[in-house]
Amino acid sequence: MSRGYFGIGVEGISKAANLGAVLRTAHAFEASFAFSIGADPRALEVRMTDTSRSHNHLPYYDWDSLDEMRLPKGCELIGIELTEDAVDLPSFRHGLNCAYILGPEKGSLSPRAQEMCAAIVQIPTKFCLNVSLAAALTLYDRALCFGGYSGRPLPSHLTSRQRRKKSTVDQRDIAHKSR
Ligand SMILES: C[S@@+](CC[C@H](N)C(=O)[O-])C[C@H]1O[C@@H](n2cnc3c(N)ncnc32)[C@H](O)[C@@H]1O
Repeated sequence: MSRGYFGIGVEGISKAANLGAVLRTAHAFEASFAFSIGADPRALEVRMTDTSRSHNHLPYYDWDSLDEMRLPKGCELIGIELTEDAVDLPSFRHGLNCAYILGPEKGSLSPRAQEMCAAIVQIPTKFCLNVSLAAALTLYDRALCFGGYSGRPLPSHLTSRQRRKKSTVDQRDIAHKSR
């Protein structure tokens, strides 16, 4: 079971395909809300690209500027950006209540947005990813932390499927040797 809540948004996005993909991702990972800051009007034509119809299921705020942004009380803003002082995502401790913000297709999160963030987190990649992919990896990492999944088994622990397969092979071996 997932814990806490989160929102996710983008600053200065210009392509509907990218905004649509971020919204679809937010919807799929069960975000509580999504937002954009100063989105290009063309990016807001997302209905064609967000086939999950997130606008019917997920509150979406289209704020013109960072000054207009209103997050719930106690909700930390977390920047997702490749910067020199960013924390690597696998080492980042996600807060229970936070809003992740990503930058535009061309450029980075604005200095003002970065200042407003409680932390800046980067996905350890050689160069920058598509913004919607960066959103998906961030939310996947959060799901791993808060999703209540059991730890990965040690190599010696076989999954039930592997055990069934192994036992079939063992039985075939025994049958073969006893011939
Ligand atoms: C396509 S990237 C920005 C382009 C890039 N700054 C450039 O012009 O070379 C769009 C956004 O995706 C996010 N992003 C992409 N790769 C990332 C990474 N490895 N770590 C963290 N954020 C990333 C950031 O929010 C970034 O502003």
